[in-house]
Order: sequence, then C-alpha cells, then structure tokens
Amino acid sequence: MASSFSAESAERIIVALDGMAPDQALAFSAQVEGLRWVKVGLELFVQAGPDVVMQLRDQDLRVFLDLKFHDIPATMEGSCRRAAALGAELITVHACAGTEALKAAQAGAVAGAASTGIATPTLLAVTVLTSWEEQRLQRELAIEQGIADRVLQLAQLAATAGVGGCVCSPLEVASLRAQHRRPFALVTPGIRPQGSAVGDQVRVMTPPDAIAAGASQLVIGRPITQSTDPTGAFAQCCAALTT
Ligand code: C5P
Repeated sequence: MASSFSAESAERIIVALDGMAPDQALAFSAQVEGLRWVKVGLELFVQAGPDVVMQLRDQDLRVFLDLKFHDIPATMEGSCRRAAALGAELITVHACAGTEALKAAQAGAVAGAASTGIATPTLLAVTVLTSWEEQRLQRELAIEQGIADRVLQLAQLAATAGVGGCVCSPLEVASLRAQHRRPFALVTPGIRPQGSAVGDQVRVMTPPDAIAAGASQLVIGRPITQSTDPTGAFAQCCAALTT
C-alpha cells in the first residue's frame, strides 16, 4: 500500500523521465499517483519535440525542461522565450554562457510567459556538470580553479544576472544556500532514498537530508522510474519528506 504524504512534499520531487520513448514517458507519468513534476531532458525532447511538454501539461503536470542552453545571447533569449511559452516552469541554462547571455535568457523567459499569459518560469543555472573531475578540468580546459569554488562563482554570476536558481549536487547545497537565500531555487539530482542503488551517481544524499541542507526541490530518476512499483517508490520519497 502507498505511504501517505503531503501535497507539499509531492511538489518537491521532480521525476526525471530519462531513457523512455515518448509514449512510454507519457504512460509512465500518467500512472504515478500523486505525481506533480516531471523532468524532460535532451534525449526525450530530441525524440518527442515540444509536443511532449504540452502533453505532460495536459496531464496536469508541471514540467522542468532540462535542455541546458548554452549559446550566444540572441539564441538564449529566443530559446528561453519559446520554452516559457510552452509552459515549462523550470528551464536550465549553463552559467558559463556568461552574464549577457544569462540576462538575455531571463528576458526571453519573461517575454515568453507574458506572450501566453502564464507565470514566468524559473531559470536554473548549471554550474559544473557532475561528470567533471577537478584534474580533468585542469588538463582538458586549463581551469585551475577547484570545483567547489567554481560552483560558487558561477552561481553568483547567474544570480547577479537575474537567474532564479541553480542545479547542483546535493553536497553543494549547503554552501550555495549559505550564499543565496530563498526564494533562490536549489534543485538537486544525485538523490537516493535510503537503501537504493547508487548507480552512476557519484555523490548522493537521501531526500530528507538534501532538503535539510537547503534544497528547494529534488530530481529523482531511476529509483522511481525503474522501480517495479513506481507509485510506491514515489510515495515513499514523498513520505520521507512529510513531517
Ligand atoms: O540517477 P537518477 O536516475 O536519479 O538521475 C536523475 C538526474 O540526475 C538525471 O536526469 C541527470 O540529469 C542527473 N544525473 C547527474 N549525474 C549523474 C547521473 C545523472 O547529475 N552521474
């Protein structure tokens, strides 16, 4: 039987629809009871196109569009305008696109939402992808700065440009929260419920620990999508946040 959980805790969990064909993703999201948020990543978007965002919204779901935009300012502006007009409520951009591009992205998000009369989405800056290691940043990109400092610097750059939050590893949440008070959003993947397989996630935290550290929302994929009982797995994650 599903555990009981509050509506507020369900709002905090975003289920990543990774590795699914478009029909599968839509069937999956329709099946999970109580689900509020889903994440559409590049793989699903490249297959399904913008329609999938509208189809998920038609299921009364809220959409995190994780396309990690990184381009010149005019392209960032146009992409965020289109993504906002589609109804995506969280949209990722790379902080290292720079101030001008981040400001353009934010302006695009405001204009896109206004054009369809919906609320402005929150842009989330990606700082350093979890696949990078410090030595490889030095060797391949000649970046001498340590990852922890770089994350803080890029988050500050994004915040100064008017971006509303960051995506970060759970182990970065506390230091980012110390520098950026709410409502600055800190959305974190790398979440593993107690006892579930870590897989390729390098640095993980449980849902309540990540929220206690200052995360505003959590992205959880395989522990829910690959469960034999996705509704139960989702409910368990939510219940762990329900006090
Ligand atoms: O591992 P899980 O399936 O919960 O992944 C959820 C999200 O975490 C993925 O959509 C991806 O964006 C992110 N991820 C990450 N680092 C990894 C693996 C996945 O940040 N090593």
